[in-house]
Amino acid sequence: MRVLVLNGPNLNLLGEREPGVYGSTSLDDICTHLTAAAEAMGITLAFAQSNHEGELIDILHAARLECDGVILNAGAYTHYSYAIRDAIAAIKIPVVEVHLSNIHAREEFRHTSVIAPVCIGQISGFGADSYDLALTALAFRFNQQTPRLEESK
Ligand code: DQA
Repeated sequence: MRVLVLNGPNLNLLGEREPGVYGSTSLDDICTHLTAAAEAMGITLAFAQSNHEGELIDILHAARLECDGVILNAGAYTHYSYAIRDAIAAIKIPVVEVHLSNIHAREEFRHTSVIAPVCIGQISGFGADSYDLALTALAFRFNQQTPRLEESK
């Protein structure tokens, strides 16, 4: 299984950008930690980050041929990019929407996610752990069953 971890605008500045909101972990640190977690699950990760809407769309298009799923933090595009929403809808692989902060507990404009209806789910508010939880969610999706269900058989 191959999963793309795609980060949108301003997430390249994680660690120094509003640490009170987003924490002090850099995007590189998140990628390193996630790679180890994925390896243990038998999942290969690819990483990309862009501050540009069109480039994020191109990367999503390419992912449909190269990856089995996507973990996407679309940053502020989450709240208004119908173009990214349409790109997610256009590709057949599952996309998990991720946010470090709890977007529902912040400013009103962040409460809306225009991409949520075309993602398989949303994970929001667990800091850098949101990416781990998204990876676990995708692993469950790939296996089509949870370890708990497996144990109770
Ligand atoms: C974010 C939340 C967005 O509202 C914001 O624009 C971001 C980061 C998060 O991870 O909490 O850039 O997606």
